Amino acid sequence: MRRPLLWLLISILSLGSAHGQVSYSIAEERAKGSFVGNVAQDLGLDVTRLKAGKARIYTGDGGDYVELNSERGVLLLKDKIDREALCGRTTPCALHFQIILENPMEFFTVTVEVTDVNDNAPFFKKSDMKFRISESAAAGAVFVLEQAVDLDVGVNGLHSYSLKPTDNFVLRLQNQAEGRKMVEMVLQKPLDREIQDRLSLVLTAVDGGEPRLSGTALINISVLDVNDNAPVFTQKTYKSSLRENSPAETTVTSVSASDLDEGSNGKITYSILNSLDDFSELFDINEDIGEVRLIGKTDYEKRRQYQIHIQASDEGGLTDSCKIMVEIVDMNDNVPAINVMSKSNVISEDIKRGTVVTMINIQDPDSGENGKVHCIIDENVPFTITATSSNFYSLVTDSDLDRERASEYNISITCCDEGVPSLSSSVTLHLHISDVNDNAPVFERSSYEAYIVENNTPGLSIFTVKATDADWNQNARVSYILEDSSVNGVPVSSYVSVSADSGVIHAVRSFDYEHIKDFHLCVKAQDGGSPPLSSNVTVKIMIQDQNDNAPQVLYPVQTSSSVVAEMVPRSADVGYLVTKVVAVDVDSGQNAWLSYKLQKATDRALFEVGLQNGEIRTIRQVTDKDAVKQRLTVVVEDNGQPSRSATVNVNVAVADSFPEVLSEFTDFTHDKEYNDNLTFYLVLALAVVSFLFITCLVVIISVKIYRWRQSRILYHSSLPVIPYYPPRYSDTLGTGTLQHVYNYEVCRTTDSRKSDCKFGRAGSQNVLIMEPSCTGTMQRTQNEKNILDEPDFDSEVSVYKNCWKQW
Ligand SMILES: *[C@@H]1O[C@H](CO)[C@@H](O)[C@H](O)[C@H]1NC(C)=O
Ligand SMILES: *[C@@H]1O[C@H](CO)[C@@H](O)[C@H](O)[C@H]1NC(C)=O
Repeated sequence: MRRPLLWLLISILSLGSAHGQVSYSIAEERAKGSFVGNVAQDLGLDVTRLKAGKARIYTGDGGDYVELNSERGVLLLKDKIDREALCGRTTPCALHFQIILENPMEFFTVTVEVTDVNDNAPFFKKSDMKFRISESAAAGAVFVLEQAVDLDVGVNGLHSYSLKPTDNFVLRLQNQAEGRKMVEMVLQKPLDREIQDRLSLVLTAVDGGEPRLSGTALINISVLDVNDNAPVFTQKTYKSSLRENSPAETTVTSVSASDLDEGSNGKITYSILNSLDDFSELFDINEDIGEVRLIGKTDYEKRRQYQIHIQASDEGGLTDSCKIMVEIVDMNDNVPAINVMSKSNVISEDIKRGTVVTMINIQDPDSGENGKVHCIIDENVPFTITATSSNFYSLVTDSDLDRERASEYNISITCCDEGVPSLSSSVTLHLHISDVNDNAPVFERSSYEAYIVENNTPGLSIFTVKATDADWNQNARVSYILEDSSVNGVPVSSYVSVSADSGVIHAVRSFDYEHIKDFHLCVKAQDGGSPPLSSNVTVKIMIQDQNDNAPQVLYPVQTSSSVVAEMVPRSADVGYLVTKVVAVDVDSGQNAWLSYKLQKATDRALFEVGLQNGEIRTIRQVTDKDAVKQRLTVVVEDNGQPSRSATVNVNVAVADSFPEVLSEFTDFTHDKEYNDNLTFYLVLALAVVSFLFITCLVVIISVKIYRWRQSRILYHSSLPVIPYYPPRYSDTLGTGTLQHVYNYEVCRTTDSRKSDCKFGRAGSQNVLIMEPSCTGTMQRTQNEKNILDEPDFDSEVSVYKNCWKQW
């Protein structure tokens, strides 16, 4: 508004009478009352004119900055002038006014130029500029800045800009219209949020005045993140160790990666990369915090090391990887396995010491001490275990084996590893010891004695010997063998036989105690081994007597054809020894213990028989009334069970002289031819008897010797011919006076090779035959035979006779 007014004023003045014109120049901002110019002088007016003319200033509508001091004729500042307020950016800036005088009216144009003073500093309207620049902005990127303003003009106006610091940006000014300059900030070096996420720059605007004034603005730059940083693991390789069989959820290790980026660009997710390995069942990773945990079972024996590849990725897709070396630490989790390598569990008892019986192989998959195994076996077995090479042990015998002592062994092998705690396992070997024939049969006793009662049936089992063999089976199968020997010149096998299987000794023949009382035989026990072992034992067979022989009366001699009588004088005293019945019994012991009894007597009151000695004595005084002929029957009994007996008739003549006797004794006999000379016949009979006796003795002995010789030859016919030895008898009671050597013969052949005699029965009688007419004895025997229900006695008697004739 002011400007057109000013121009109007000037044009009016120029149209008026412009008598003079002055110009002044004054700097702005001078104090009130400051001198502007001496108008009076410059216009050539004196002061009085001024007064008179009522000089005044006409500014039109303009500002009233200057006053006229009429008295001095000078122009003074009425008010402080601000050029910028007055003219703005117009230059030059001048005040135009007129000084008007009256009387005469005159006017003068005065121009006061206001010169600029540098009183304004440049400034920014927005002193705070904010930028958000991505760190990915490329060099050369341009950012337009706010311009500064300087109210001053000319040289005092805005002169230049500067930007600090200049690390990343430089200033670029571009000229614009009206002399303005566009201020730009150009990215020279790319930003890195990770280094500096905020930048503060100061933009300074400087004017050209003297002194220079400046204004500043603050540029705040926020660097925007770009995913320009990949995650980075703190370590490329992590190491961890893990005990095998650790429980699930055990932490293996934690990996950690960092990402310099922020926000989602820096958010890291962890994952396990090993897709080829089957780790997904074994390990798991917490994808947020990178903690690797165990979820499966580890087994040192299957795998000792794992390499887990871990990837860290940010959400921008940048990744890094690392690996975890997981060492599995062995735990003693495997018991040693024992493998017995040999199939056979039978060993021979005769193997040598130090023989390897079997080998065992030990497997312990654990390592180190956990896999170090040692084996032991029970004590008290004849074996030791020794390590041969690693993992192999052999079981060796360390003493001799004996199947008979222990036929099997249960060997318990225990193997322990050296882990803590130690694990162990054991196996039991069943070893059987096989038999070797190393034991001979052993008889239960070192010798045996067996008894057999005579007159046994052939084939009777006498006794059983038994031998045991400690070996086994065939080696222990004992056979009994009768050893060859001879008994009285006859092979023992003709007496007995031995059953090979049972050891039973059988009699082969019937024994006769009166022939043989005992004999020895040797039995060998032999086992079935190869070679066989044997041992022998002696068996003494003792034949026991049976009361199979009746007593034999030797005296008085019984004849059928002659009469023998004992004489008793009538003067005989009481206790007179009439005669003595002499009898023998070929049996022995009780069976031969004889007793004598009076069975019948003409006068029982006159005689007695000594029970023990057979002495017939008178028991009272003989009187004349007693008959001359006295006949006594004496029974001789042995003490056997049942007892056997013989009777004898004793004729006693009670007389003082032979004629008396003879006259009486004619009645005794039926044979008249002996009556005449009884004494003669008696003596003759005695002589004949004695002769016959001695002859018999001689003949029997000679024949016996002959037959004994013969039997050696005949033996092979295996005939049960018993050699005969005359036994020797003595009067056991010692009361008798006779010492008899007394022979008899028994024929007991089953086939009559040498004799017609056939005595099939064990109980056959032996008969003393003095002469063919042994009636008393015969009768007695016959009685007995009847009792014993012996129907063929008569034939036997005849056989006896035949037998005798054979002799
Ligand atoms: C060995 O063991 C077996 C069966 O286990 C048993 O029958 C036998 O009696 C044992 N032998 C020994 C000598 O212990
Ligand atoms: C019986 O055994 C003994 C030793 O035991 C021996 O001296 C003897 O010769 C053996 N006899 C026979 C017949 O074998």
